[in-house]
Amino acid sequence: MNVTRVYGILAHPAGHSLSPAIFNAAFTEMGIDAKYEIFDVESLDKYEVENSKFWQNLNPNLAGLSVSLPYKQSVIEFLDDVSEDVRAIGACNTVKIADIQNDDGGVKKIAIGFNTDCFGFMESLKEKIASVKDLNVIVLGAGGAARAIVYGLVKEDAKVVVLNRTVEKAAKIAKDFSKLCEGGRIVPVQFGRLDEIENFKCDVLVQATAVWLDEKEADFNFVSEEFLQKNEPVVFDIVYKPLITPLLQMAIDNGCDIITGEKMLLNQAVKQFEIWFGEKAPKDIMSKALNKLIA
Ligand code: ATR
Repeated sequence: MNVTRVYGILAHPAGHSLSPAIFNAAFTEMGIDAKYEIFDVESLDKYEVENSKFWQNLNPNLAGLSVSLPYKQSVIEFLDDVSEDVRAIGACNTVKIADIQNDDGGVKKIAIGFNTDCFGFMESLKEKIASVKDLNVIVLGAGGAARAIVYGLVKEDAKVVVLNRTVEKAAKIAKDFSKLCEGGRIVPVQFGRLDEIENFKCDVLVQATAVWLDEKEADFNFVSEEFLQKNEPVVFDIVYKPLITPLLQMAIDNGCDIITGEKMLLNQAVKQFEIWFGEKAPKDIMSKALNKLIA
């Protein structure tokens, strides 16, 4: 008997997630017998003892999960294995549940963790800029999203500066991702406070703080018009609500190229699809479903 495979998003709150529309459109397009649901789980604490049963508890036919805030780190302890990206970034946004053969011939389910945020970001950037090698990239923010972004940039030899309200968190990212090159030379990731931005050169400016989610968004004063005019960076805001954030509007007004946040959401979802099904994702269909929701 064929069982409909279940996928979903594990987050809290998760009610406003755009992922069900994106993935269900992809399943229909590809004729895949699967459905994508919302798993809005208030806490993972009660699952701790029953570690191996966690996935079954969510749904017996669960085959994969997208993981969002606040579980990208805490989900790792429930996994049987993780990718190199998850190990380096310290966060997991994708789980694949796979069947493997036991030694006794039976079948056992294992859960493997991946991180597609890094790919989603780099892919979106590459749609605008062919290579980031030796470009000066400033990343605003030092949360989980910034960690995935800095990891991707450093791997491709960008010169990265991380600026954050809490400077200690920027220092930690800089320490974790400064890169040891051939010949033992260390290429440092620089760091500082948000108000130190004027001290750095900038070809690409990445906005990865949660400032737009804050009620006091008028607080956003860490990028000036003069800075944009002097450096003319490509400005990428990873937030997609609103699509044109106040920073992106300022970038447009000052003649800078921009990248909007929904591109990263789409590209990380495309990679998730490919991890789950091992085939190319119907990106156009997924993009259409997403654009319908944010238009
Ligand atoms: P995410 O996983 O989306 O990166 P996060 O880990 O909660 O979320 O990180 C949020 C980031 O937004 C942090 O860099 C945070 O700065 P602090 O480390 O100082 O807390 C930043 N942030 C949130 N609200 C902000 C605001 N009003 N101004 C500046 N930075 C803000």
